[in-house]
Amino acid sequence: MEQLTKISTFAQDTLKGLSADQKFLLPKYFYDDKGSKIFQDIMQMPEYYLTDCEFEIFTQYKSEMKDQFVNGNTPFELVELGSGDGLKTKILLNHFVEHQVDFKYVAVDISRQANENLDKKLKAELPGLKTKFKTGDYFKMMNELNHDSDNNKIFLFLGSNIGNFGEKERHQFLNQISGLIQPNDKLLIGFDLKKPKGIILKAYDDPHGHTRAFNLNHLERINKELNADFNIGTFRHVAQYNEQSGEAKSFLVSTKEQSVYIGALEKNIHFQKDEAIYMELSQKFDLDTIQFLAQKYGFKIEKNFTDGHNYFVDSLWVKK
Ligand code: AVI
Repeated sequence: MEQLTKISTFAQDTLKGLSADQKFLLPKYFYDDKGSKIFQDIMQMPEYYLTDCEFEIFTQYKSEMKDQFVNGNTPFELVELGSGDGLKTKILLNHFVEHQVDFKYVAVDISRQANENLDKKLKAELPGLKTKFKTGDYFKMMNELNHDSDNNKIFLFLGSNIGNFGEKERHQFLNQISGLIQPNDKLLIGFDLKKPKGIILKAYDDPHGHTRAFNLNHLERINKELNADFNIGTFRHVAQYNEQSGEAKSFLVSTKEQSVYIGALEKNIHFQKDEAIYMELSQKFDLDTIQFLAQKYGFKIEKNFTDGHNYFVDSLWVKK
């Protein structure tokens, strides 16, 4: 039953996106099990600097972060929204376990497979660690989490996941988290910073073809789950970056005029030659905007942790 509801939401969102004047698909659907795996390939490539930056930040500041997160002897929950393979967070987890910090790691991810893999890995590598795994959309999960326990919480929203939200969703997210966060809770939120076009385009249009595969997998998912007949070979991946606005956008462009039939919707979708599907926004930020957002949603910035190149910020927010 749960599966049916999920598929029908996916079908509805797909219909809405592919019927719009500017066709679009929602990036949350990238992350089926195959898409989550491809995203791990993306994170491992040298061109995708975001991961290296956060690795560097956590390695350098793990001890300071521990001091910021720990509040006397009070146990807390380290809640990661969009935990994925947890690779970067493991730097913190290792350090906290080593220093016998009293905490539980709560991993929230949309991919069940990613959660199962992380659970296995952490059991093997950090057997003393207390964990909880939750699978689902983090908008829904955030409210549930607050009912689950009264412990202080440190929320992690890393990797510049916030950059994938449009303005409306970003508002919804920050508003929701601002509403549920308690005076002793904190939020560590990752923002990718604006930088020269060449660096961004290499990260989002990589020579290995992982980002292309990531985007095309969304169409494959529609084929599989919604019984469609996208011919994957007739779409090319295009990445754009606007240095002023900080918007990095990716598109799939139809290389010919064609119709695609989507069985679950009983609908043909027509594509002109060179017509684009807008696949994803990866917004880049500057420090003023981060300050503005914190302020707007009732937070103050306790510390901005940055890497040596100033490419990326993990910003630690508390309620004002
Ligand atoms: C998950 N998110 C922050 C990634 C990003 O950089 O926007 C998703 C991604 N898309 C293509 N490459 C990476």
